[in-house]
Amino acid sequence: MSANPATIKHIDALRTKLREHDYRYYVLAQPSIADEEYDRLMRELQELERKYPEVASPDSPTQRVGGQPTKEFATVSHTVPMLSLSNTYNEEEVQDFDRRVRSLLGKESFKYVCELKFDGVAVSLVYRNGVIARGATRGDGVQGDEITQNLKTIRSIPLRVFGKKRGLTEFEVRGEVYMEREDFRRMNEERELAGEKTFINPRNSAAGTLKLQDPKIVAMRPLRFVAYYLRAERFELQSHVNNLQLLRELGFPISGHARLCRSIGEVTAYWKEWEDRREELPYDIDGVVVKVDLLRQQERLGAIAKSPRWAIAFKFAARKATTRLKGITLQVGRVGTITPVAELEPVFVGGSTVSRATLHNEDYIRDLDIRVGDAVVVEKGGDVIPKVSAVLAEQRRAGSKRFIMPKTCPVCGSKIFRPPEEANYYCENSECPAQVKGRIEHFAHRGAMDIEGLGEAIVDQLVGLGLVRNFTDLYTLAGKKKQLVALDRWGEKSVENLLNAIEESKEKPFERVLFAMGIRHVGAGVARLVVGHFPSIDSVMAASKEELEQVQGIGPRIAESIVRFFSEKHNQKIVRKLREAKVQLEEKQKRGAGNASLAGKTFVLTGTLAGFSREEAKQKIEELGGKVTSSVSKKTDYVVVGEEAGSKLDKANELGVRTLDEAAFTRLIQ
Ligand code: IVH
Repeated sequence: MSANPATIKHIDALRTKLREHDYRYYVLAQPSIADEEYDRLMRELQELERKYPEVASPDSPTQRVGGQPTKEFATVSHTVPMLSLSNTYNEEEVQDFDRRVRSLLGKESFKYVCELKFDGVAVSLVYRNGVIARGATRGDGVQGDEITQNLKTIRSIPLRVFGKKRGLTEFEVRGEVYMEREDFRRMNEERELAGEKTFINPRNSAAGTLKLQDPKIVAMRPLRFVAYYLRAERFELQSHVNNLQLLRELGFPISGHARLCRSIGEVTAYWKEWEDRREELPYDIDGVVVKVDLLRQQERLGAIAKSPRWAIAFKFAARKATTRLKGITLQVGRVGTITPVAELEPVFVGGSTVSRATLHNEDYIRDLDIRVGDAVVVEKGGDVIPKVSAVLAEQRRAGSKRFIMPKTCPVCGSKIFRPPEEANYYCENSECPAQVKGRIEHFAHRGAMDIEGLGEAIVDQLVGLGLVRNFTDLYTLAGKKKQLVALDRWGEKSVENLLNAIEESKEKPFERVLFAMGIRHVGAGVARLVVGHFPSIDSVMAASKEELEQVQGIGPRIAESIVRFFSEKHNQKIVRKLREAKVQLEEKQKRGAGNASLAGKTFVLTGTLAGFSREEAKQKIEELGGKVTSSVSKKTDYVVVGEEAGSKLDKANELGVRTLDEAAFTRLIQ
């Protein structure tokens, strides 16, 4: 039995619907129906296609995962070679590029478009009559692998484009296949649980996945696509910006972060901005791409060798490098935490030379099987502390040995122990010089009592000479001025400066003092919360674990740590000494009730606000008792949306989290 016209119409309608839902879900990240409803539509379509094989169509939404595993990919030639970009790393080189463009274009005015440089895999997609006809890797730029089946599994790649543009019958879209960091992390976690080999980074796993011969496996991996290039036969295209718009209308995902720039100064500003903001993105970028906007001008500029003269990659300093692990030492923190540290052959990463990097803890070393002598990858992530992120095991030297955690503290020789359920080891001796110094440094730190001039070296000296045994002793130094002036490398002036800084610290508000005391799990934010409810040291010390837990944001772990801290005799003595020194041990003005209007509310900031810097907005929210986090989840109360907001806005919409534009946000904090 063949399908009647009504059935064919129904099948068509189902396909259109599913296409639209795919688009809403995978491109816009704004789904409008429940997953169950989507699955129901998909099943209905699958059944109809099974029943009426003659209506089957390769661009049907059911055909994303089709085809049999291939033995080998076919080689295909690109109609127009896929050029690569020449790389620049600093402003001078970009200015050279700009000068060349200007001199080649003569008197003509022109604009640049700046885009993010996605750290993924470049692919080419050819469409005929609105339907995907071929997908290929870049290969050597002239020929690549035909991987249509694999690319069709990527849900954000349209199998059939939206609408019809007269004359746009054949076109090619180029873009990047990539993986978001969070998807990558989750995928690796699952692989690990399943006992499979994990991938090194999102780009490698995207590249590795596209090379798989079985599209069914590819379909299970969280690949995404973003388009950044359009070429059409017999269809007039004007400018890159228009092309991006056209790509969007056709149903392709494009980045929301492209920007038209009128001068090379604006280009550099864009580069700097994204160098700072790259961690806000859910995916990796390794620089920005600068393109001359008008296609007519691109043509005039042409290409040399393998790179166009109308575009350039303006890269960020590499944040990863390979080097050799010379040794593993242990560092002792202010609460006795023992952190294994990688001693490295010095290597240049992300703008500075790195010779030490964190190895986190015993489990981390064991899981990656990091061994002294190994070639390792050093990475600078969002935080400035570099870490060893991978081992090049194939380069391992014969006779290397697994790392074994020492039994004793490298500073005082006391036994070290690892509490159950914790990843860290601790030195059991609270008088261990490393802990003593660490506590004093923490006390003097900028975010705590802010005692200028009291850095690591000075603390070393003062503790070494027995002039200071804990941070309360700092307030007795004024009486030892003569002794200090006589010290090596010290003079009248520097001693005076230090004593003044110590004196001034007595004016620091109580919440800073509480933070400076170095209670485990009590950071600056927690200290502020505690002081908001217990405005004096006496009330904090009198509070029970249950009372502390009443405070929004304070859980059992923190509450217990505070109670334990103040139950210890030597800490009670510390409080007495601080009181004698006339350090602030209560809040000066009590906060008015209306002032904590945002208490317990969690905010995420995205995009640029006109009236505040990010730091200012954050401060305002925190002053009113709110909290700012970096990623949107169901627990987020508000997403504050500025200009050029990114994926966080999409995420907020997806999760139904409330969004505030700048005007609404300003009203809220007033
Ligand atoms: S345009 C001729 N735009 O960078 C211009 N490329 O070496 C062709 N890439 O292989 C590329 N983000 O993989 C362009 N926004 C972007 C890009 C981008 C990443 C990659 C692409 C290409 C390489 C250039």
